[in-house]
Amino acid sequence: MEIILRAEHISVIFPSPQGGLSALEDFSLAVSAGEFVCVVGPSGCGKSTLLRVLGGLLPPTSGQVYLHGKALNGPCSDIGIVFQKANLMPWRTVVQNIILPLEIQGLDATESRRRAAELIRLVGLEGFEQSYTRELSGGMAQRVAIARALIHDPQILLLDEPFGALDALTRERMNLELLRIWEARRQTVVMVTHNIQEAVFLSDRVIVMTTRPGRVTAEVPVRLPRPRSSDIVYSDAFSALAWTVHEAIPG
Ligand SMILES: Nc1ncnc2c1ncn2[C@@H]1O[C@H](COP(=O)(O)OP(=O)(O)OP(=O)(O)O)[C@@H](O)[C@H]1O
Ligand SMILES: [Mg+2]
Repeated sequence: MEIILRAEHISVIFPSPQGGLSALEDFSLAVSAGEFVCVVGPSGCGKSTLLRVLGGLLPPTSGQVYLHGKALNGPCSDIGIVFQKANLMPWRTVVQNIILPLEIQGLDATESRRRAAELIRLVGLEGFEQSYTRELSGGMAQRVAIARALIHDPQILLLDEPFGALDALTRERMNLELLRIWEARRQTVVMVTHNIQEAVFLSDRVIVMTTRPGRVTAEVPVRLPRPRSSDIVYSDAFSALAWTVHEAIPG
């Protein structure tokens, strides 16, 4: 499998009154095209920092990210990002939020709306095109954020605890939806989550991080058959994997 995204020896030190806060230390990761990778780790260990580095939003203090073998030194339309909070513009409609990145680029409005309509179908928001995003539920708002991240048809999707604020049932449904979208689009996904079950359910591989400064402490391959349905979580194979991940998480 071709390696699409590679982080090599990433360290991030934030300035602090104590002379520097080390968020990531010598973090390396190689992600294959089409792979679904989940990253888990204790709170504050540097997961969001890692995602910002992988997305070209934060230059690492040392180390380098490579996209298709080329150094990544800034944001890039090949990478779509969904943050923990949907970060939508409440005064714009669903469609207007989704096409915002294209509007900024000055893309033709008709083409933008055609793409948005396709994504609205994909994320299951038909009928809500003209709703203001302030009127949406948390799950619906995250669907808009996912559609917006997909508007450039990026090869890579980075997700930072996208369903962290949702209740357990909605979260389970959103995970199934996410798998459906991933299976339809075959993007490469790197997703940060606190939730071990979610990580095993979704991914091909779970990366476990140490406490801050974050490093990789374990990698757990998940060879559960696909497509996956929610009852897989009751299987012995699933429990064994979840336990392995659980044991690898420090503290
Ligand atoms: N812009 C910043 N400036 C200074 N310190 C920062 C900045 N962003 C993050 N940090 C610090 O870096 C460390 C890692 O933060 P980060 O948000 O990456 O952790 P996290 O693993 O995503 O945590 P959580 O699981 O709670 O979301 C924390 O100690 C945080 O305070
Ligand atoms: Mg975080």
